[in-house]
Amino acid sequence: MMNIPKGTKDVLPSDSYKWQYVENAAREVAQLFHLKEIRTPTFEHTELFHRGVGDTTDVVTKEMYTFKDKGDRSITLKPEGTAGAARSFIENGMGNGVLPAKMFYITPAFRYERPQAGRLREFHQFGVEIFGAKGAQTDAEAILIADALLKKLGLKVKLYINSIGCPTCRAEYNKALKAFFAPHLENLCYDCKTRYEKNPLRLLDCKEEDCQKVNANAPLMLDYLCEDCKTHFEDLKKCLQLANVEYEINPRIVRGLDYYTRTVFEFVSTSIGAQGTVCGGGRYDGLIEQLGGNPTPAVGFAAGLERLLMVMEQSGVNAPEAPKPTVYLAGMDDECRKKAFAIACALRGSGVFAEIDHMDRSVKAQFKYADKIGAKYVAVIGGNELAEGVMNVKNMANGESEKVSFDGAVAYFSNN
Ligand code: HAM
Repeated sequence: MMNIPKGTKDVLPSDSYKWQYVENAAREVAQLFHLKEIRTPTFEHTELFHRGVGDTTDVVTKEMYTFKDKGDRSITLKPEGTAGAARSFIENGMGNGVLPAKMFYITPAFRYERPQAGRLREFHQFGVEIFGAKGAQTDAEAILIADALLKKLGLKVKLYINSIGCPTCRAEYNKALKAFFAPHLENLCYDCKTRYEKNPLRLLDCKEEDCQKVNANAPLMLDYLCEDCKTHFEDLKKCLQLANVEYEINPRIVRGLDYYTRTVFEFVSTSIGAQGTVCGGGRYDGLIEQLGGNPTPAVGFAAGLERLLMVMEQSGVNAPEAPKPTVYLAGMDDECRKKAFAIACALRGSGVFAEIDHMDRSVKAQFKYADKIGAKYVAVIGGNELAEGVMNVKNMANGESEKVSFDGAVAYFSNN
C-alpha cells in the first residue's frame, strides 16, 4: 500500500468545506482592506531564501526542501511566502507603479520539521504583504487584517508585539548580546556557537532547554532602540489603541526569519498548546534592497491555515457545512432513470443542485441514499409518472408529496 509522506495531510472531500470556509473568510477580509491576490511559484531559486530568509535561520539551515533540477539548478520548495512576493515585486517593477502595493496569498509552504500537532512539512499560509509604506500605521493595519480574520472566524487569541529595531540600533544590541553570552558560550548548543559569531539575535530563538535558560536573562532589544525606532513603536501602540485592539508587549519575540526590522508581532492561542502561534509577522524594511531592488519599506504577516482550523476545532467553532442537493431524482426502471438523467441535466443547466442514481439502486435504496446526502426533495419517476409526464415530489422535511410536471421542474425547484 502507498502511504502519504510524513508531515503531510490529505484534505478529504468530507472536510474540505472547512478549508473553503477559512479561505473564503480570508479572501473577504483581504478585499475589505484593499489587498489583491498574488500567486508566485511553489519553487524558487534556492538563493532567494538564503538571501531573503537568512543563512543563520533554522528554516534555511535545516528545514528547506532543496534539490537540483535536471538543468543542475538549485531549486527550493518555498518555506514561506514573503521572499517570493518580494522577488516578484522587484522583478515586475511594482515599485514604479502605484504604491503602496498591497497583496495577499494563500499558498502551500514546505519545511522539513519534526511533525507534531499543528506542525507539518507541507502546510498552508494566508499571507499579506504591503510594500512601499513606512509608517507605523501600516504596521497597525497589517495587525488589524490578521485581527479581522481571527474575529471573523470567532477565535480568541492573544496579540503580542515587540520591536527588534533597525540595523543601526541592532548593531549596539548585538554588541550587548555578545557581551552577555560570552561567559556562557561553553553551555550553549553547537548551533548557538555559530549564531554567536554570525547573528547574535538568533541566539534568542534557540529551542534547546539549556540555551533557553541562559536566554532568560539576556538584555532586551527594547532597551536599545534608537530614537526613530522608539517613536515608531510608540506610534504603533497609539494606532492599536485607536483601533481598540488589545495587545501585550512581549520583549522576547524575535521571530525565526532574518528579514525583520522594527515591529514584530504574533497572535497566539492558548487552546492548542505548543504550536499556539497561529499568525506571525512584522516589518521588513531591508528585504527588497537585500534582494537587489530599490530601498522599499514593507510589512506583512502569515497565518497558518492548519493552525486556524485546529483552534476552531478546539474552541468549538464550526464552519457552516457544504450545501446539500435541492433535489434527488429517483427512477424506477431504466427508462425512468433516463428521464431522471435528462431532467437533472436541465435542472443543473438552470443552476439547481440536483443528484441522480449512479449505482443502479432500487427506489427504496435511492430514497435512503437521498436522505443520507440530505436532499431537500426526492422526485420519483415510475412507469405511471413517465406516461403522465409528471414526477412525484416528496418534501423530505415535512413528508408532504405533490405532483410536478416534467416541464415545470425547473421553475418548481428554482423557487424551492
Ligand atoms: P512564520 O512565523 O514562519 O512567518 O510562519 C507564519 C505562520 O505559519 C505561523 O504562525 C504558523 O501558523 C504557520 N506555520 C509555520 N510553520 C508551520 C508548520 N511547520 N506547520 C504548520 N504551520 C506552520 C512567515 O512565514 C513569514 N513569511 C510571515 C510574514 C509575512 N512576515 C512578513 N510577511
